[in-house]
Amino acid sequence: MRRKNGLPKRRALRNMPVFEHGFRTNPRTAAYRHHQASAPAPGTYTVMSLFAGCGGMDLGFMGGFRYGGQIYRAHPFHIVRAIDFDRHAIETYRLNLGEHGVVGDLTEIPARDLPKTRVLIGGFPCQDFSSSGPKVGFAGTRGMLYRVLIDYMNEHRPDVVVGENVPHLMRLRNGEYLETILREFEECGYDFDVWEMFCPDYGLSQSRRRLILMGTRRDLPGRPAQPRPTHPNKYRPIEDAIGDLVGVTDESVTNQSQYFVATRATSGGGQGDHTNQRGELAYCIRANAKARIQFHYELDRRLTVRECARLQSFPDEFVFPFAAMTSMSQIGNAVPPILGHHVAASVATYLAAIDRGEATPQKARRAPEQRSLFAADAAK
Ligand SMILES: C[S@@+](CC[C@H](N)C(=O)[O-])C[C@H]1O[C@@H](n2cnc3c(N)ncnc32)[C@H](O)[C@@H]1O
Repeated sequence: MRRKNGLPKRRALRNMPVFEHGFRTNPRTAAYRHHQASAPAPGTYTVMSLFAGCGGMDLGFMGGFRYGGQIYRAHPFHIVRAIDFDRHAIETYRLNLGEHGVVGDLTEIPARDLPKTRVLIGGFPCQDFSSSGPKVGFAGTRGMLYRVLIDYMNEHRPDVVVGENVPHLMRLRNGEYLETILREFEECGYDFDVWEMFCPDYGLSQSRRRLILMGTRRDLPGRPAQPRPTHPNKYRPIEDAIGDLVGVTDESVTNQSQYFVATRATSGGGQGDHTNQRGELAYCIRANAKARIQFHYELDRRLTVRECARLQSFPDEFVFPFAAMTSMSQIGNAVPPILGHHVAASVATYLAAIDRGEATPQKARRAPEQRSLFAADAAK
């Protein structure tokens, strides 16, 4: 096959990753990583993780990783079980985080068969809501999966529920979709806050926003406080995250020799054909990018699997054991571990305070007039 310019079509480098250990068995991480015992230790909070993917959010909840020279301390959470129906994602999860990751289709597992925990986390699938997806909302088959969280809430009454999704959900149909989801969540006796989080505010070198739906059971006082930005207006440019990899062309850093060399689109918006710029934030790492991963700011190639993982704040010891396409999609689907870490810290602080009987920030139930909030955002 030849391209329009007559040159042969370029193909992906079919390198496979080379590694000896996943994150959880790597001797380099032993001093600071989260050591999960087989049963929850006293003083830890149990967690059920639904739609866990490769474990970006879960690594954030566990904590105990190093990124950008900084240690993100271990959190007092014990993830009892993490479920996803993608067996490749769960293989990555188990390799790096633990055997509590299991394959299962959540539309087929009754909530009563899941363990009871104090915290429920779940990034319910967002393809149908994503600004780069087909925008079919509730009509799409995956649009109703938030009800898996509702079944769990009704059955097990966790103290805290953390839903995660894309900000576009807030703007779809002037906020109508998000309103429906929140109303159904609140009808099971929970109050929710909506946090829109911009990843560069927390030290990531990637322009990415995420919505966190933070819920607490209505009989509990207060609520977790939204994490304060650690890097307000002090954004770290792309080269801060991946500049040291410029000369690395082999697997001395796992997943660094894997990338696509697909040519640029000749028509259409060229989504995924963006070239990053030195001194600026990287473009968002997309979940469904396939081979169309953005280009490097300095080298004549697309980003590697490791560079995408770095931009998502995965530590280098967290390895992706598959070919580039599978790994890129796991990375693009993930909640950046640093973001998860900040959210988890707020939840841990909240649970510790209610266990001690202390006051926490007042809970204000969303008033009916707040329902126009998302519509107002949509007009921005
Ligand atoms: C946005 S991703 C979650 C990413 C994850 N929170 C992380 O931080 O890595 C959504 C996940 O839902 C999973 N999923 C979709 N439908 C599912 C189902 N019916 N049962 C179980 N998992 C499902 C997908 O495989 C995907 O990994």
